[in-house]
Amino acid sequence: MLRFVVFAVVLLGVCGCANADAAPVAELTSPDGRIRVSVEAGEAGAFYRVDFRGEPLVARSRLGLMFKAVYGFDRNLEIAEVETAERDTTWEQPWGERRTVRDHHREMAVTLRATEGPKRSLIVRFRAFDDGIGFRYELGEQSGIDAVEIIDELTEFALPQDYQSWSIPARGWNRYEYLYDTGPSSDVHSAHTPITFKAPSGAHLSIHEAALVNYAGMSLIQKRPNTFKAHLAPWSDGVLVRTKAPFVTPWRTLQIGDAATDLLNSSLILNLNEPNALGDVSWVEPGKYVGIWWAMHIRDRSWGNDTIHGATTSETIRYMDFAAKYGFKGVLVEGWNIGWDGDWYNNGALFDFTRPYDDFDIAAIAAHGRKVGVRLIGHHETSGDVSNYEAQLEDALDFYATHDVAQIKTGYVADGGRIERIDDHGIRKYEWHDGQFMVDHHLRVVTEAAKRQISINPHEPVKDTGLRRTYPNWIAREGARGSEYDAWGIPPNPPEHTAILPYTRMLSGPMDYTPGIFDLRPNERPPLRADMPRNDPRSRLETTLAKQLALYVVLYSPIQMVADLPENYEARPEAFQFIVDVPTDWEESIAVAGEIGDYVAFARKERGGDDWYLGALTDEDARSLTLDLDFLDGGQNYEAQIYRDGEGAHFDTNPYPLVVETRLVRQGDALTLDLAPGGGTAIRFKAVSVLPAVAGK
Ligand code: NOJ
Ligand code: CA
Repeated sequence: MLRFVVFAVVLLGVCGCANADAAPVAELTSPDGRIRVSVEAGEAGAFYRVDFRGEPLVARSRLGLMFKAVYGFDRNLEIAEVETAERDTTWEQPWGERRTVRDHHREMAVTLRATEGPKRSLIVRFRAFDDGIGFRYELGEQSGIDAVEIIDELTEFALPQDYQSWSIPARGWNRYEYLYDTGPSSDVHSAHTPITFKAPSGAHLSIHEAALVNYAGMSLIQKRPNTFKAHLAPWSDGVLVRTKAPFVTPWRTLQIGDAATDLLNSSLILNLNEPNALGDVSWVEPGKYVGIWWAMHIRDRSWGNDTIHGATTSETIRYMDFAAKYGFKGVLVEGWNIGWDGDWYNNGALFDFTRPYDDFDIAAIAAHGRKVGVRLIGHHETSGDVSNYEAQLEDALDFYATHDVAQIKTGYVADGGRIERIDDHGIRKYEWHDGQFMVDHHLRVVTEAAKRQISINPHEPVKDTGLRRTYPNWIAREGARGSEYDAWGIPPNPPEHTAILPYTRMLSGPMDYTPGIFDLRPNERPPLRADMPRNDPRSRLETTLAKQLALYVVLYSPIQMVADLPENYEARPEAFQFIVDVPTDWEESIAVAGEIGDYVAFARKERGGDDWYLGALTDEDARSLTLDLDFLDGGQNYEAQIYRDGEGAHFDTNPYPLVVETRLVRQGDALTLDLAPGGGTAIRFKAVSVLPAVAGK
């Protein structure tokens, strides 16, 4: 289905002005008419507002850009022209949470013209979808503007009253790795996006951005009560963005819905990204992987080359054999290259990305991988010394490519604002993880990797803004607190964490959360070596065993780590079967129930298969959810293989009870799930030909 209509309107005369003295207003509504955007301009500058269901959702909020050396667009503006269009298309994801995505929107390009100084103009392009809006600035080529330095983006998001909010602070030392704050919006000082709100009317809103390219990442700062302003991460010299006309900014996005689950079912961010720029990407491989990784975090092994070095040839081969036995595609190995000995957090310059330690025979490992059908997954930890990494980037990628590596996890462990860059004069500078320097850097890595058919999974990344659509080898990223905090974080991730992530961080795209920990109390075991004590026992998994399984369905990623030690899986074969079965690439995904911070349930259908899967999880409260199985394919029978919390299960006191049972179900049936405190349920709906009536006998 393709509908494409464009018409230009000379605004004055057709505006929806309330009275003759009011500023001219340009208006746009979503295809279903429920979202309305209005734009006005005048001496005070340009403003927009958003109404949902006939009520203000975002009040009158400023628009504009300011430049260092030339006139910007802050005040004395008029609407010179408005062009509108409507499009209704569908497109296909090479991998993803759904195969087919519908992009149905109305568009309005508002040309703002300065009424003072040189009469320059700036376009603000709005798109209204049924699930929200996006808008961006577009500066065309015009006389007197060439290279520009942006010193402020004036964009605001003014809430008409206090909303409930879920967010993490911005510009902190720990980047995006904070526990979520829940509370009234007026209490938020600064926030990374996505930041999510619930209005007293029940409407839901999440603010983020799409297609962050050649610009600085946007966080929000509360300027006046409930007025949030764009706060771009600056370069080390204070300039926010260095660019050149013509340019477009990233889209500022507002996902909007009645229910919390509407946010989860939205494709707005992807729809506002450009199509695949890489052509044939059949070499990008979704799938599950294991790794020499958790062993380091629980202090069984070390990254450095000492007596308990994790990244040895024999240990890698052991993991490869384990992966091959259960059908997992890759083995991540960290601590394989020169640079990990000593204080690696502060010594990124020592990392050498083409020199393995002596006990890591990468050629033999690659050969073994070819034999058993498992790949080595590469690891480039930079400790934030990006100049050191960039100097070696091409050689580092070539090196791994010759050893069959098709996916690399990168890492930028450094405090926020402490990314190291050596400038053109050889002077060390410090940058933000979400500043323009890093936005450019990540894209450089992703495009260089694509030339070698390698996919990239950055940890301590810049946030996701949907660029996986344009660069499908940007396969996942971290960018929130993952399981590693359950090994060493004080506090570990509380039960509500994974009931908030879907409605916040996960709206931006896939996360390498690294789920599937089966030994839920790893720090209570005696240390293997006296001089390597375990982490504080307060750090542990605050989930039940069943909830670890549910995470594979709830937290979408095309790559999912099977993160615990092989022996911990083989000790619990019944639970492990779900991880063996669950796919990572989907035909369709539907959030079927949920409330932010309380619970969530996702149903997903296997890509290229007939089976459906369901993951449901709760916060610290026990919960009973009755779910209609409407999502199942009509006329098909399914064996529901249910992995649920057993009698007395509790994340704190009794995390292991697990019941695995089967039932025959079909569309139209309902299932009641009893989730323990901090618990969950995971279900495989296996398509079967048997009739329920027969099977029931
Ligand atoms: C932090 C990453 O999140 C973690 O997965 C990794 O093991 C360490 N850095 C070391 O690179
Ligand atoms: Ca991390």
